[in-house]
Amino acid sequence: MRDILVIGGGMITHDQILPSLLHLRRIGRVGTIEVCARRQETLNALAGAWFLRDAFSGVGYSASTEPYRQRIAALPKRSIVFIATPDPLHHEMAMAALAADQHVICVKPLALTAAHSREIEAAARERGLFVGVEYHKRFDDRSLMARRAYREGRFGEFRLGHARLLEKWNYRSSNFQNWFTRENSDAFTYIGCHYVDLVAFVTGLIPVAVSVFGIPDRFPNGNEGYLWTDARVLWNNGACLNVQNALGYPDAGPGPNTQGLTMYCSGSGSGALIEHSDQYRGLKYSYGDGQYVEPSPDYFQYVEWAGLGLKPAGYGYRSIEALVEACEEGVAHNDLLATPANSSYNEAVIEAARESIARDGATVSCR
Ligand SMILES: NC(=O)c1ccc[n+]([C@@H]2O[C@H](COP(=O)([O-])OP(=O)(O)OC[C@H]3O[C@@H](n4cnc5c(N)ncnc54)[C@H](O)[C@@H]3O)[C@@H](O)[C@H]2O)c1
Repeated sequence: MRDILVIGGGMITHDQILPSLLHLRRIGRVGTIEVCARRQETLNALAGAWFLRDAFSGVGYSASTEPYRQRIAALPKRSIVFIATPDPLHHEMAMAALAADQHVICVKPLALTAAHSREIEAAARERGLFVGVEYHKRFDDRSLMARRAYREGRFGEFRLGHARLLEKWNYRSSNFQNWFTRENSDAFTYIGCHYVDLVAFVTGLIPVAVSVFGIPDRFPNGNEGYLWTDARVLWNNGACLNVQNALGYPDAGPGPNTQGLTMYCSGSGSGALIEHSDQYRGLKYSYGDGQYVEPSPDYFQYVEWAGLGLKPAGYGYRSIEALVEACEEGVAHNDLLATPANSSYNEAVIEAARESIARDGATVSCR
């Protein structure tokens, strides 16, 4: 049972990471939990989260604004550092954690270049430490179903596909406006990587080249970012996946985002298809206050359970549970979990994408 330091107390820590870890602590699967962030306001906002009172009453965590290196140094060796900060910080934080002999779990993407991913992999291997990347779509049962059927040959070979994931317009008003700027990220790098990883996860194919066209737009604070992107990802069997991403789904839309994946395959001579609607999961709720929503029961929900409070349910929780489990030494794991050794194609795609977007969508090979 390992202690955990979460670096970063923003949206993803609030929405998925901290509640998952609090449940794991409650059922005796992790030791102490600490969240460290730069600003006290971040920690205060987290401390006011409804779930601490209604779902995890009596399950504690500590918080600190001390520099993350100090907090890593205070951990017992071979604990877990969970990185949940903006993308450009992941590499330096992972390297600092590994140098201090800590296992690492990192939100996607692990790094922004393939070289950084390889550096992290080498440092982990040298010290016998685990590094896992939190690609939670892998733990959606529909992904696992598609992977199994694809690998049984039931779809034949993937040829052409499209994926979309557009977050709500109101993301523009969040802390994103401070870091999601042209030089740091873009809609494809931020969120498109989920579907690139998923197609690789299902098919075993590797992306070899990418072209990303980005449309710059302004955040409310005046910063400029590539808030709309259209990407073409080419695969090592010649297949092509189009991926559209944005911080641009209407706030009035019924789900938290719009997302889905369509893959046309060769089949056994007459074609085959994989089609996942990933935001409409069959639920339509019209509340008494006039609000209409289509909630997903699959990513992350709070449900009653045999114990006190509520427990997190869904693939967002299962992904974190599996990654924490993998940090237990001696636990064998297969390539269901993303590690730098088995998923560095994601960083290669991101690196090529960043070059492509700066060159108006030129095709760039993944190195
Ligand atoms: N679907 C997903 O997998 C998913 C969804 C959301 C975010 N993410 C990833 O999670 C990461 C964070 O995203 P977010 O939405 O939570 O962002 P956010 O801006 O809401 O939060 C980032 C946090 O990092 C903290 N931080 C920044 N520098 C720090 C430092 N030096 N030391 C300690 N804390 C520091 C900030 O204080 C803030 O609390 C990003 O890499 C993003 O790509 C993944």
